[in-house]
Amino acid sequence: MANKIVVGAQWGDEGKGKITDMLAETADLIVRFGGGNNAGHTVIVGEEKFELHLIPSGILYPEKKSVLGGGVVIDPVAMVEEMEGLLARDVSLDNLYIAETAHVIMPYHQMFDQLEEKRKGDSKIGTTGKGIGPCYTDKAARRGLRMVDLLDEKRFARKLEKALDYHNLLLEKVYGVAPLTVNEIMEEYRPFIEKLRPYIVNTSLLLNKAHQNNEKIFFEGAQGTLLDIDYGTYPFVTSSNPTAGGVCTGTGMGPTTIDDVIGVTKAYLTRVGEGPFPTELNDEVGTFLQENGQEFGVTTGRARRCGWFDLPILKHAVRVNGLTEIALTKLDVLSGLDEIKICVAYQHGNDEIDEFPPDLENGEPYKPIYETLAGWQEDISPCRSYAELPKNAKLYVEKIEELTSTPVKTIGIGPARDEAIIR
Ligand code: GDP
Ligand code: IMO
Ligand code: MG
Repeated sequence: MANKIVVGAQWGDEGKGKITDMLAETADLIVRFGGGNNAGHTVIVGEEKFELHLIPSGILYPEKKSVLGGGVVIDPVAMVEEMEGLLARDVSLDNLYIAETAHVIMPYHQMFDQLEEKRKGDSKIGTTGKGIGPCYTDKAARRGLRMVDLLDEKRFARKLEKALDYHNLLLEKVYGVAPLTVNEIMEEYRPFIEKLRPYIVNTSLLLNKAHQNNEKIFFEGAQGTLLDIDYGTYPFVTSSNPTAGGVCTGTGMGPTTIDDVIGVTKAYLTRVGEGPFPTELNDEVGTFLQENGQEFGVTTGRARRCGWFDLPILKHAVRVNGLTEIALTKLDVLSGLDEIKICVAYQHGNDEIDEFPPDLENGEPYKPIYETLAGWQEDISPCRSYAELPKNAKLYVEKIEELTSTPVKTIGIGPARDEAIIR
């Protein structure tokens, strides 16, 4: 028995979907613990490509349970769309479970997300516009609606009316847009709620019972460590805790039930949205990584910003998540480079800083100090054992292991399920 967390070690899009899908083969339940449809997880099985936003990547194994924990925020319209998309491709939803305590993204959350980004202008966060931040804001402000509230029309109407008392003031007086009515929202959501109703259960109970029965649970992270509201590049973060600590609050499982934490780490770095990025490359190497790595967002289609591997970030991720191992993805993307750089510390004014600072925009810029390694030219995607990798690729992997003091146990050498080396 080993329950594992798969968490993003950087700014998201590290390849969590692929790693979860690969490792889920040995699990009984696959669980999302936070975030919402801001996530976009790509899983490639044979000729088929799946892009999942809310539903755990484990859904592609019909016999395994897929669970959305209470820490997830759910847009009923997006959820049903995703479910129907999977059904149309003959993916079974018989083993899907949704937490009754998960908060619901309401139409006004999406409106506020987009209106607020527009209002901020140049200082915008670059959110996905899915209503994630405003939904978590309402959860913390104790005026949110949960899945269970939607199951009873009277309760739904009562809670929504209270929520709208507040939100309509903002819509009208702050943003100057038309208010919403209880009826129009209930009408819009009713057919979606009916489709979701059979899946809504007490998932904390379900998970703890499974654990007592020695079933194996995989927790699939969304976003990444640097997007964490507490440990990320605040305020350019998401509004939840995608780090390992979020698993307990986001699923109702105690910390003693968890055995391993796998940090999914891209062999270089990408970021979508605004915010500081010390190793960002605005040159031909950046373009090479972008094109070779097909770095376009799954959720918004935005081009991802690219840069070199950043060690202070990884050491921070190892620490705040308690990583027990690294899954290093997209190593194949680096093939063809003459040299590869690793940022080992930052120059900040007169200081050399080798730990990730709480604020990357504090005074002087944090300039990367690089260690340069030799690249390799060979296509590594046919390799299926560590020994087959070119010498310089192995040196790069071993350098990351040495600098982070964490073993790299899985290496991604292509997007497909079997394109990986397990050590
Ligand atoms: P996630 O959000 O962490 O699940 O990652 P995304 O799916 O948003 O982005 C990762 C992208 O890289 C997807 O298009 C994957 O198919 C792809 N991918 C994952 N692992 C590898 C790998 O080892 N090599 C290559 N070339 N692509 C990979
Ligand atoms: P996956 O699970 C990459 C980013 C957005 C923005 C910031 C806040 O696919 O790795 P939000 O809509 O959450 O309020 O946006 O967070 N962001 C992601 N970036 N991958 C993700 O998820 C992301 N989810 C949110 O681009 O910068
Ligand atoms: Mg993604």
